[in-house]
Amino acid sequence: MREQILELERKALEELKDLTNKADTDAFKIKYLSKQGLITNLSRGMRDVPSEERPVVGELINKVKREIESRLALLETKYEEEALNEKLRSEKVDITEPSKGTAQGEIHPLHKIFTKLMDACVEMGFTVVTGPEVELDYYNFEALNVPKDHPARDMQDTFFLGGDLLMRTQTSSVQIRAMENMKPPLKIVSPGRTYRVDSDATHSPVFHQFEGLVIDENISMVDLKSMLTQLLKMLFGDDTKIRFRPSYFPFTEPSVEVDATCPMCKGAGCTRCKGTGLIELLGAGMVNPKVLENCGIDSNKYSGFAFGPGVDRLAMVAYKVPSIKNMFENDMKFLSQQNGEIR
Ligand code: PHE
Repeated sequence: MREQILELERKALEELKDLTNKADTDAFKIKYLSKQGLITNLSRGMRDVPSEERPVVGELINKVKREIESRLALLETKYEEEALNEKLRSEKVDITEPSKGTAQGEIHPLHKIFTKLMDACVEMGFTVVTGPEVELDYYNFEALNVPKDHPARDMQDTFFLGGDLLMRTQTSSVQIRAMENMKPPLKIVSPGRTYRVDSDATHSPVFHQFEGLVIDENISMVDLKSMLTQLLKMLFGDDTKIRFRPSYFPFTEPSVEVDATCPMCKGAGCTRCKGTGLIELLGAGMVNPKVLENCGIDSNKYSGFAFGPGVDRLAMVAYKVPSIKNMFENDMKFLSQQNGEIR
């Protein structure tokens, strides 16, 4: 029995030396130490050992068992360390690797145009005011000399909300609110959202306007022309040509439509400006005396002018944006392209 035990120990230690990986080591463990293992079998053989030898033989088996177990434990620790080191190696972050860069946000083209307009107007002495987007018929139409059933209402397809409420179709409503609340002389601009039942490549149900209003004594068409010329040159460059074309708005008299040199072709004529070299930018005019009187302003003493560009249109022209929808879709690819200056 003793020889048998020592022989098994020798064999086991021999095999242990050749173990190089965890799988083989596990197999070895099963072969010797499991319930059916060779060492465990030895203990079963104790039955046949004379009783006086049993303590010595038992002790020997245990010694061999402990020896193998402790060597196995060493091997297992070694494998665990190796596995951990391998994991650390494979997950190592190379801090010297150049960065891929971070995606940087861009200021939205609409916001850029608004900021330009606002900065220019504040520099010229305008005060910025705002008005509600859900508006009363009175401020959006009636006080602006557009009575109920006036054909001019057809031009502004309105979202009616029931009763006298509607989504404002133009920021001109803020003209009335300003004239009711502030005494002339006044000089205000009002940026904001406007709404119309309209949707194609150049029209969106929600869009933006930038209303301007100047009321004082002796304000004439000359003031309107010089102020708007200055503003548009600030936006599109000094070499921009401005054209004032007669038009009609119920709340201005006379009314004009203002065109500027097409920024795409610099006046040569292209598809964008339909070959005219000019692009229509905004409506404007001398405030209709009826509107002044509606707001309790003496039209014999005061006169004024108003203007109201569509800001989406300005941004589309300035940044060569193909569809007004681009303005609202928050497509990162589109937004990150808008990094050029207006000029
Ligand atoms: N509110 C007009 C529009 O939406 C533009 C405008 C503003 C015209 C101010 C004249 C004066 O078309």
